[in-house]
Amino acid sequence: MDLAQAIQERHSVRAYTGQKIEEEKRQELDTLIRGCNEESGLHIQICYDDPDGFDSKMAHYGKFSNVNDYIILAGRPSEDLEEKCGYYGERIVLEAQAMGLNTCWVGLTFNKRNVKKRIPKGEKMALVIAIGYGETQGIPHKERPLDRFVATKGEMPDWFRKGAEAALLAPTALHQQKFKMGIRDGKPVIRRAGRGPYTKVDLGIVRYHFETASGHKVF
Ligand SMILES: Cc1cc2nc3c(=O)[nH]c(=O)nc-3n(C[C@H](O)[C@H](O)[C@H](O)COP(=O)(O)O)c2cc1C
Repeated sequence: MDLAQAIQERHSVRAYTGQKIEEEKRQELDTLIRGCNEESGLHIQICYDDPDGFDSKMAHYGKFSNVNDYIILAGRPSEDLEEKCGYYGERIVLEAQAMGLNTCWVGLTFNKRNVKKRIPKGEKMALVIAIGYGETQGIPHKERPLDRFVATKGEMPDWFRKGAEAALLAPTALHQQKFKMGIRDGKPVIRRAGRGPYTKVDLGIVRYHFETASGHKVF
C-alpha cells in the first residue's frame, strides 16, 4: 500500500485485537521515528507492550480497548511544537497504515499520569497515538463539501484539488476540521480557521496530507 492509498484507508481505530506488532515492523517503526526526530528536533517515542498508557477510566469511556502500544509526541517547548507533532505524527500514522497497522490520535482519553513518567525534564508532551492491529479498519468520517474549505476563488489547479481532497480525509480532533486552504503567489497556504482544542496539531496533520497528495510544500 502506498501513502495515497493509506490516506484513503486510514480511519481512527479504538478497539485492538491485542496481537503483538512483529519484530520486523517494530524495527521499521523505530527507524522511521528516529528519522522524524532527527529532521524535526522533536522527541517522539514509541512504547511497546505497555497497557498502562491506556489503563484508565477515561480510556474506557473513550471506547479504547487492548491498546498495548502507543506513540508519544513530545519535545522541548516551542512556538511550533504542536504543529510539528501533528506533521511528523501523521507521517508515522500513514506509514503504519501502509504496514497494515491501525492508529488513533488521542489528546484526552489515555492515562496521562502513567505516560508522563516517560517524559524527560524540560520536555512537553503534546499528545499520543494508539497503534496496533484493529478489531476493524474503522469507518470513514462524515464528509463536508470541499468548497467550504477553499478560500481562493476560481478554478483549482489539479495538484491543489488533489492536496485539498486529501486534507479533508485527515483526522482532526473531534472531527472539527477548522482550517482553510488557498493559493497565494502560486503557492499553497493552509491556516487555522476558528478556535478549538488541538487546532495547531490538526494543522500539522492536514499539512502533511496536503503535501503528500499534491507534491507541493506548504509554507
Ligand atoms: C489532535 C487529535 C486529538 C484527538 N483526540 C482524541 C481523543 O482524545 N479521543 C478519541 O477517542 N479520539 C480522538 N481523536 C480522533 C478524532 O476523533 C478523529 O480523528 C475524528 O473523529 C475523525 O475521524 P477519523 O480519524 O476516523 O477520520 C483525536 C484526533 C486528533 C487529530
